[in-house]
Amino acid sequence: MTVLPLVELVNVTKRFGKITALNRINLSVEDGEYLCILGPTGAGKTTLLRLIAGLLEPDEGEIYIEGRKVNKVPPEERNAAYMFQNYALFPHMNVWRNVSFGPIIKEWNQKRINDVTSEVLEMVRLGERKNAYPHELSGGMQQRVALARGIASGARILLLDEPFGALDARLRVNLRTHLKSLVKDQRLTAIHVTHDQEEALMVSDRIAILREGRIEQIGSPQEIYTNPKSIFTISFVGGANFFEGVVSRVNEFGSEIELRGGLRIHVSDRSRNVGERVVVAVRREHISLGKSRRRGFNNLLGEIEDVMFVGGSMEYMIKLENDMTLFSRILLKGSSTPLRRGEIVIISFHPRECRIFEYPRRGLLKEIEAI
Ligand SMILES: Nc1ncnc2c1ncn2[C@@H]1O[C@H](COP(=O)(O)OP(=O)(O)OP(=O)(O)O)[C@@H](O)[C@H]1O
Ligand SMILES: [Mg+2]
Repeated sequence: MTVLPLVELVNVTKRFGKITALNRINLSVEDGEYLCILGPTGAGKTTLLRLIAGLLEPDEGEIYIEGRKVNKVPPEERNAAYMFQNYALFPHMNVWRNVSFGPIIKEWNQKRINDVTSEVLEMVRLGERKNAYPHELSGGMQQRVALARGIASGARILLLDEPFGALDARLRVNLRTHLKSLVKDQRLTAIHVTHDQEEALMVSDRIAILREGRIEQIGSPQEIYTNPKSIFTISFVGGANFFEGVVSRVNEFGSEIELRGGLRIHVSDRSRNVGERVVVAVRREHISLGKSRRRGFNNLLGEIEDVMFVGGSMEYMIKLENDMTLFSRILLKGSSTPLRRGEIVIISFHPRECRIFEYPRRGLLKEIEAI
């Protein structure tokens, strides 16, 4: 049996004058799924949510919710609650009134309104603050009221636009996990827009990487992290070191890449041709630093230029012989003493940990800057 997707976009295009905000988007969201739309500013994330919510109409393509084409269906008939990027509560209404707003509009009977409102307020743990006004609540509490209001409206699909944007880091992490379990426990479906890769990796079942109006890659957090299909994705999710070079040899073991200044590195990938201009990406955590060469690894010589403590691990900035700068992230273990600025080290990374990409047409910097 095939399960019908809950939300489906087929070749959806949206333009604003000369700007193509979304370009032939195809996307299916399963019932009960937690999907994150991850992308830089201006990528089209809000536009995508507004289209699903029914606040905008596509110029081309179709949108389906529960198998029904909804291009012309008004927002209130879509079974979806849209939470704005800058969530707006009614300032003159207390928490209770804010949350019961949807049910009241829908003219449910009083008992049902009361039951649903108190249940949802308990869910977001704000039952005791039901008489407070928005300005009397912290940012995180206001956020939870907005969430409660969306859920109380009976919507099965939550459309969340940067729901934790305005909150401090710790609260954001707390609310993330809270929201994810809420969605799973209540069997809701969430489409959560964010530009924060860590947030997306943490909460999603799947992540769709949106860039310049197109979906660049879609997959589970682990797939996106371990098998990024583009320089953009690898640099946007997790980040990496990038080596520019030319393929100088390909044999049964892999390829050899010649870098600036005559340095050579080996990668296991054999899919490129000799003479091709390429970019090799290596994650920071795949670069180890030591005093001796490691067999079977790439070994380069460098000098530590800077040392940064990033809670639980050390991040090193290293200058290579060819003047290139590299970053390495090394987990701090009880006994290890961090390396010091000025030390000469051997930088090692395995050919298998190197990902190779075609040199981007607009140049490497532009490609990464586009973030
Ligand atoms: N109502 C509008 N009129 C004209 N252009 C618009 C409108 N809404 C969005 N755009 C344009 O569409 C593109 C995508 O905008 P959108 O708001 O979807 O981006 P976003 O990914 O949500 O960005 P951010 O992370 O900054 O919120 C941008 O170039 C934006 O200027
Ligand atoms: Mg936006």
